[in-house]
Amino acid sequence: MRRRGGDGDSGDSGDIGDIGRAERRHGTARHGRARRWWPPWLRSLLLAPLLSCAAVPFLIRLFPSLLTKFVYLNFLAFPFFVDFRRPELLVNNTINLYLTTEPGVTVGIWHTVPSSKGAEAQGKEQRWYEEALADAHPVIIYLHGNGGTRAASHRVQFLKTMGAADFHILALDYRGYGDSTGRPSESGFTTDVLALYDWVKARSGNSSVLFWGHSLGTGIATNAARKLQEERGVQVDAVVLESPYTNIRDAAANIPITKIYRQFPGFEYLILDSMARAGMFFSSDENVKVLDCPLLILHAEDDGVLPPKLGHKLYETALKAYKDKSKVKFVTFPQKLGLGHDYISFNPELPALVKDFLNMK
Ligand SMILES: *[C@@H]1O[C@H](CO)[C@@H](O)[C@H](O)[C@H]1NC(C)=O
Ligand SMILES: *[C@@H]1O[C@H](CO)[C@@H](O)[C@H](O)[C@H]1NC(C)=O
Repeated sequence: MRRRGGDGDSGDSGDIGDIGRAERRHGTARHGRARRWWPPWLRSLLLAPLLSCAAVPFLIRLFPSLLTKFVYLNFLAFPFFVDFRRPELLVNNTINLYLTTEPGVTVGIWHTVPSSKGAEAQGKEQRWYEEALADAHPVIIYLHGNGGTRAASHRVQFLKTMGAADFHILALDYRGYGDSTGRPSESGFTTDVLALYDWVKARSGNSSVLFWGHSLGTGIATNAARKLQEERGVQVDAVVLESPYTNIRDAAANIPITKIYRQFPGFEYLILDSMARAGMFFSSDENVKVLDCPLLILHAEDDGVLPPKLGHKLYETALKAYKDKSKVKFVTFPQKLGLGHDYISFNPELPALVKDFLNMK
């Protein structure tokens, strides 16, 4: 779920919706003028995209796996031409590593250390970075949204902002994204995240470890946190959800790209119901009911991709289910800050807000 025209990030889902709208404008303009001077071949040319646009929902119903491509957008591997082995070209105090999360699946990860260790980190190998994880600074496992890789500009900004605030951050590309192998799937993402969690816990001593999800990644964060709890009785130290949704069906019903289809009667049957048929649930609204850890939900009022009402609904659900209500917090960012869907990590007040929530100095 990406907003249109994020700086340097191309080809997002918003664009596809806009093409659809442009098509409709052509469609209505056609009548009046076509009779006068539009040659038939031009009319066919304009009609073709219109028809294929209308065919999309039927194709999705027939082949639900098509829908996973639209949701994951992992084939849009922007920014292009990034050398994942050299993160230092984009962000300081960072090393690249690979982790095999299950036989045949290896994911790429960037580890940024707290900037107070920046001088010491110069020229160090992976081993030094691993040992640094036990330095008592909190560790964020960062779960990015759909489309693009860990090198996308707003994700790099997250590493900079939270690294400067003395967090460790481990940002992975799930299977099928970036230079990671494998194919994307909801349960596969959870496997990747829990493998990274175990890897971190084996090295992080008493440091707290939190899941931070953005956009699509918020559902991945709650899936992983829930599985930890249900299968091992372990609560992650905190979960932060940035620009979240309640579940993927609700998300699809609200994102701009589906706007043109929403007015048609078959929308629910053709598109929304296909989410489950394609094996995509990302049920944060169910997952939060199982959690007990501190839960922070962040949403910008001007989020043009996932409306803040979804974040609010998720907050209400969690608040109702939590025994200790003080563990759940919802923070909105006013429209005038212009943070939208992707740029909450550009807000200089974010680290203080997070530390305050986690009761840190
Ligand atoms: C790394 O830090 C140095 C010194 O503060 C700075 O000049 C440089 O721009 C930083 N590099 C990146 C990629 O941010
Ligand atoms: C972790 O905490 C325990 C109990 O407070 C303490 O005994 C131990 O030394 C700590 N370990 C590290 C690596 O700081």
